[in-house]
This record gives sequence, structure tokens and C-alpha cells, in this order.
Amino acid sequence: MFLLTRRAFLHRSGILTAALAVPQATRSPAKYRTQLLASTLAQFVDPLPIPEIAQPVGLRPISGNRQARLPYYRVAMREFRSQFHRDLKPTRQWGYGSISPGPTFDVRSDQGILVEWSNELPTQHFLPIDHTLHGAEADKPEVRTVVHLHGAKTPAESDGYPENWFTSGKSAIYHYPNQQDAAMLWYHDHALGINRLNVFAGLLGVYLLRDEVEDSLNLPRGKYEIPLIFYDRIFDLESQLNYPVSPKPDAPWTPEVFGDAFVVNGKIFPYLEVEPRKYRFRILNGANGRTFHLAFANSHPFHQLGTDQGLLSAPVELKRLILAPAERADVIVDFSDSVGDKIVLTNDSFNVMQFRVGKNRVNDASALPATLRPVSRIPESAAAKTRELTLVEIDDLKRRPTTMLLNNTHWRMPVTENPVLDSTEIWNFLNTTDDSHPIHLHLVRFQILDRRRFDVAAYWATGHVRYLGQSIPPDASEAGWKDTVRADPAMVTRIIVRFEGYAGRYVWHCHILEHEDNEMMRPYDVIAAV
Ligand code: C2O
Ligand code: CU
Ligand code: CU
Repeated sequence: MFLLTRRAFLHRSGILTAALAVPQATRSPAKYRTQLLASTLAQFVDPLPIPEIAQPVGLRPISGNRQARLPYYRVAMREFRSQFHRDLKPTRQWGYGSISPGPTFDVRSDQGILVEWSNELPTQHFLPIDHTLHGAEADKPEVRTVVHLHGAKTPAESDGYPENWFTSGKSAIYHYPNQQDAAMLWYHDHALGINRLNVFAGLLGVYLLRDEVEDSLNLPRGKYEIPLIFYDRIFDLESQLNYPVSPKPDAPWTPEVFGDAFVVNGKIFPYLEVEPRKYRFRILNGANGRTFHLAFANSHPFHQLGTDQGLLSAPVELKRLILAPAERADVIVDFSDSVGDKIVLTNDSFNVMQFRVGKNRVNDASALPATLRPVSRIPESAAAKTRELTLVEIDDLKRRPTTMLLNNTHWRMPVTENPVLDSTEIWNFLNTTDDSHPIHLHLVRFQILDRRRFDVAAYWATGHVRYLGQSIPPDASEAGWKDTVRADPAMVTRIIVRFEGYAGRYVWHCHILEHEDNEMMRPYDVIAAV
């Protein structure tokens, strides 16, 4: 009944990037040549753009509470054109605040804010909608948006539930209480069935949340703290975004999209001029499906300070930073021993961007602290419940090449995950597929317990997990608070979660956006304790 696919081997090999940008068999050789080869572009000719900081437009009361007035932001989603590279024509995109990535929020823990997200996009989509996917049926408006603040502890009505989309000319006012530790969050579109297209079009941005613990660490700040948002895209010869399609005109969805153009903050092959001192980079993998393996060509180290949900207990020195889609890393790079150097940042063997280190020594009063914020491990004994949740790929050749499911359940089926508010649970992700799936839960932060290989065939035959190896603890770089975890193939990945904050309906899903749009997402309910 379940045919496990063999695509995964190719997908995981970054070396096959360019070839995979074009689904084999689906494009004629003539059509292949309509594709821009990003490797032919001149490298390091554009300065790295840094998104502007979002500014509130005033103070407003929260609905239902006339007393509390919160900073009020208004962000319009609009179509715009900008150049991804000096030698490309302006590319049509959709962006928050008419830029992509959108403006960076720079806000404080415990200071809630209101954001009016306003859809001022055209009424036609410019990327290929698949009307056979859940929520994207032909009777639905083409352009639908809803904004999710990824990693935020947000009341359900402001969380951007995938069905709470609104159309062009409409807006939604969301309340972000910001009652959580300092962390790099990010906001992106979450509209059911077209999320992958809206994000590919440019609807993503960064949200930096700060607190006193972070303040006390004397980390590089101001112009020495820079967000780096990585993703991959595919372009046609007219410099326009080219989202790949399946061979079926009525069902254009493809299981994964890997672009050959690596983009940082909206530019291909940018460079950044830096002083010979410490910089703090807030790194996000904002790609639809690609995992980045970032390393400096000269093996210069990174010092990782934080994960998705904030500071680690102590910095971790790394030569290579691995980030699956939606994962973040907070890093310090010290250029003080690289006076006058040009250092290239690579993804596998491909150049991504260049750092040009100044020739004059400078004073650097910022710190790389030895310890950061204590992260106490949640004991397994705290868990009131353990759930076994399968990750499944089904090849259903009648309908489409592949459907991905969580626990063999579709989006529309009744809710099966219903943790009690303020209770702790262990979730075991049994990955029966050949792909790694980055699994994300809204609302909460969690800790990774371990990963352990298991016998997939035996599992399908008997329904029982037979482990094949020792359990592997999380990498040092993922040993803090997380909201997205790599569930590797043929492994059981275990996380421990306390469901804190709010009762209500949220979602959990694979953050490969093509999977998410094709059933690899489920609603879950946090139930108020009685
Ligand atoms: Cu990045 Cu459902 O989220
Ligand atoms: Cu999220
Ligand atoms: Cu997936």
C-alpha cells in the first residue's frame, strides 16, 4: 500500500542542485534553456541589503481592553519589482512593506504589539496554483493570505490559522503579546494550499525579540548585528521567478523545489563589508525545501549563541552550520584575525556570499560570553503522555506522484492531537520516508530528546517500533530551545514539549512548504484544563 520513494537520495545531495531545479522528464530540452543558470552570474557584485526596521504608527487599545494601549504597526503586502542581481532585470515579487524579505521587527519581550497585516496584492496569482490541493480548490479566491509569526507564543486568533486567510483589499489585526524569551522569530504567509507559492513570491520577514538577559551579555549590536536570510530560487531568462511544475497541467504541484540561485536578504551572491571585529548574525533558513550547510571556505569558525527559541546555555564553536527550512541560528563571527581578507561563505561547495574585511584594526568592546542563559533539561518523567506520530509518503499514481501525511491523517480529518494546557508531552516522530522532514509545532518551544534508527519495514508489518541502533543525543547546536526539528529518515525523533500559553486550535506540520501544502500539516487543540 505505501510505496516509499527513492527521490530522497538525490534531494539530499546539494550537488545536484541545478539539475533538480528542473524536474527531469517534465521539461523538454528547449524548455530547459528558458531557465537562467545562476552559476553564470557574476559573483559578489551587489552589496548585501539589510531590511529596514519596522516602525509603529501609533498606539491602539487591544480589542476588549480599553486600558492597555499597545504599539500599533501596519504592514501592507504589495506586489513590487526589484533586482536580485546587478545583471538581472527587476523581478516581480510580493513583499510585506513592498520589500522582500520584509521589514525586521525589533521588539521587547513583555511589550506586546498589534500588527495590522493588510493584503494589497493583485487578485490574480502569478505562480501556478494546484486546485487539487486541500484548501486551494477552484472555487477559492486565487490570492489569499494569512500571516503566521513563527516561533511566537500567540493567542490562537492571532496565530494565522491556515484557513483564516483574507483576500486582496482585506486586513487582519493580530496581537503579539511577546511573553517569551528573547529569540529570532520570523513571519511568513500560511494560507492553506498556496503557502509555498506565497512564500516563494517573497512573503517572509524577521522578528527579533529581546530581553534583559540578552541585554546583559554585551553582544555586538547596532550595525554589528545583521540578519542573514537564506533561501533558494529559480529564475527564467526574463529574470522572473520560475516555480517548477509537474507534467500534469491540472495538478502542477511538485514534491520539492530546489533552486540553483542562492539568495541572501534578496540578493544572489551579495558581499558585505565588515570591520575586523565581532559581528552577530541572526541566520534564518527561509527556503521552501532546501537544507543549508553553511561554512566559510577558509574554515573560519562560527560561535553559535542561540537556536530557534533563543540562547543556548553556552556558545558552541562550529565550522559548519546546518539549518533545515525554518530553523534559525544566532551566531558570532569574529573577523579580528582576518584584517583585509575576503572570506567566502559557501553552501556545500557552492559560493553564497562574501565578507570583505576592512584593513584598519578597530576597537571592539563587545563580548563573546562564556555562558549565556541556563537551559534546564525537562525530565522525561514530567511527560503526562507520549504520542507516536508517523511521517508517511504515499505514491498514489492515479492522483499525483506523492502525498505526505502525518500519522496517516489528512488535514480535514478530526483533530487527534489534543494536549492539555500546561501539561508536558513527548512526541515521537517515526519517519518512515527517505526524506528528512523539519517538523514544526506552533505556539510552543520544545527540547529534542534524541534520535534513534528503527526498522521501518518491521514497523509497517507489526505496528511496533524495533530500534536498530543506539539513541543519539541532539547536536550541541540544537541542544537548546527549539520550535522546528529535523526528523531524519528511518529515525524516531523524540521531543519533549510543555504546552504553555493559550488554549485553542493551532497546527503542527512539516516545514518543507511543498509537503505542508499537500497534507503534511495537521490541526491540534490545546485543551484548557478543567
Ligand atoms: Cu513557519 Cu506553521 O510555520
Ligand atoms: Cu510556526
Ligand atoms: Cu516534509
